[in-house]
Amino acid sequence: MADYTIKVRRFQPESGEGAYWEEFKVDLDPSLSVLDGILQAKDRDDGSLSVRCSCRAAICGSCGMKINGQSGLGCKTQVGEAQEMANKFAQGGAEEAAHIVIEPMGNMPVIKDLITDMESTHWTKIRRVTPWLLPHGEAPEREYVVEPESMIDITQSMACIQCGACVSSCLSMEADPDFIGPAALAKAYRFVGDPRDAETVERLHDLAGDPHGIYDCTHCFSCIDACPKGVAPMDQIMRLRRRAGEEGIHDPNNGHNHEAAFVKIIEKKGTLDESLLLQESFAPGVKGKLKPTRGAIKGLLGSIPTAIRGIRSGKMRSIPKLIPGVHPKLPGGAQDEVKAIYAHAEAHREEFNLYIKGEEGDDE
Ligand code: FES
Repeated sequence: MADYTIKVRRFQPESGEGAYWEEFKVDLDPSLSVLDGILQAKDRDDGSLSVRCSCRAAICGSCGMKINGQSGLGCKTQVGEAQEMANKFAQGGAEEAAHIVIEPMGNMPVIKDLITDMESTHWTKIRRVTPWLLPHGEAPEREYVVEPESMIDITQSMACIQCGACVSSCLSMEADPDFIGPAALAKAYRFVGDPRDAETVERLHDLAGDPHGIYDCTHCFSCIDACPKGVAPMDQIMRLRRRAGEEGIHDPNNGHNHEAAFVKIIEKKGTLDESLLLQESFAPGVKGKLKPTRGAIKGLLGSIPTAIRGIRSGKMRSIPKLIPGVHPKLPGGAQDEVKAIYAHAEAHREEFNLYIKGEEGDDE
């Protein structure tokens, strides 16, 4: 047994007061979970301490929460590990052990203490992506028969337990609460990749055309870090983008062209020459002639206040790099090395998920 202090962010709506912090002393074996610690505090100190849980085995997805700022499952995080993490984050080398900080999930309204409203931000978005099969034709008399190999691609997204940890950690959703989000888009890929679904292209058009859809993800990787089941929602979003690109779907937000511009510039120059980004995004291959759509012009004008705020706050420091020819070239043979990496990646598309690790064309 060891003593720990958990510091819980509490909110009791019936009190009429705002949220506040409360500390509880718990004694647990380090191998037990943070959820066990919360339940012990609830049992010994305050029965009104509210948390949602059921299986206590990382299966039901009920106990999503933030532990030391990281989204995850309370029942899957050992209290000893959480203490080590808290000590690492503590500043100034305090002599006393740091407190394990526990908060409700982010990007969702808090109902009470650690219980969040999953309906408004999670389930509504899951329903948004039509989370069921849309096959055409007569249903077979018995079950649909598919080759096991054709399902491998979606096994990773099928591992989702709907805990909402990825939604809680999503930085894009923090900036745009209407973003469909990592959990719902991973669910969308589960059906886009399913060989029985007959409305794949319609689904891709829908998700690419939505200004809060697949091109709203900014590759921050937070959802990959947060997911307790290895679903890697961001990877599923990239698969949706790849499929949309293969179908020739050009979204009204210009996301596909913008992404292609990044790849093209890096392939050519070995580094991201930002002076070419607008040109290549809106008029690929047409030098000196920008061809933005009406929607893109609106989007660009709308982002001017954000850009000004970025310059003022010092977050945007690459203005000189927007001048053609100013972007520094890579030293020595670095550019050839980047090109070699690019060529290798193109020739050996690599897939990583729970069940696949390797390269296309491998025998095993
Ligand atoms: Fe079921 Fe944690 S209690 S996942």
